[in-house]
Amino acid sequence: MTTTSGASGSSRIPIAVLISGNGSNLQSLVDAQEALESYEIVVVISDRPDVQGLDRAHDADIASEVVDWNLFESRVSFSDAICDVAERHGARGLVLAGFMRILSSNAINRFTDAIINVHPSLLPAFPGAHAVENALAYGVATTGITVHFVDEQVDHGPIISQESVMVRPDDDAASLHSRIQHVEHRLLPLAVAAFAQGNLTVDGRHVRWGTSTPETEKR
Ligand code: GRF
Repeated sequence: MTTTSGASGSSRIPIAVLISGNGSNLQSLVDAQEALESYEIVVVISDRPDVQGLDRAHDADIASEVVDWNLFESRVSFSDAICDVAERHGARGLVLAGFMRILSSNAINRFTDAIINVHPSLLPAFPGAHAVENALAYGVATTGITVHFVDEQVDHGPIISQESVMVRPDDDAASLHSRIQHVEHRLLPLAVAAFAQGNLTVDGRHVRWGTSTPETEKR
C-alpha cells in the first residue's frame, strides 16, 4: 500500500509529542516549529509525572498531560488513553520523542503512518532501550540515528532518515549519546516537518521524500 502522510497546504499540522523524561528532542521540535512553519505541537503527553520535558512544555506555553503508565492495567488501555488525549487536542500525528513505552496495535491503527519515532542507532542494528550501550559493547566503529514511522514491531517501521555518528576510542555511553542527540535534534524536526507537509510517501518498507530531502530541507 502506498500512502502519503501528513497533508499539503498552508495550515500547520497539529501533532502530539510523547515523552518519558528529559525532553531534549521535544525542545528541538519546539525550537524549530516557527522556522519550519509546517507543524504545531498541540499537546505534550508524558507517561510519568515530574519529568523535565513537562517543564519544557510549560515554558513553551504548550498544553501538557500526564497519562501515567502505572495507573493502567494494560498496554491497550494505556495506549487508548494516549490516543484519546491526542485526539482531544486535535493531533493528526504522534511524535515519540524519548517515549519509552510500546503502543498497542490499536493505537498504531488509529494513527496510520502518522507516528514517528527517533531511535539512537542505525536500525536494524541495536533496537531496544539500550541502543547506545549495546553499540559500544559490540565494538562498532559507527553507529547513528534513525527516524522512522512506527509499526507493530519495536524499532522496526519504515525509515524516514538516518545519519551516522563515529564512535571514538575514548567514548563512554554518555559521550556517545551526547553526540547522537546533537544529530537527533537536527533530523527529527526535519522529518516531522516533511510529514506535516505531506512530503513523505510510505510504500511498504520504503519512505519516499517528495520535493525536498533531509539534506536539502531548510531549517
Ligand atoms: C533519545 O536519545 C532517543 O533517541 C531515545 O531516548 C532519548 C530521549 O532523549 N529514544 P530526550 O528525552 O529527548 O532528551
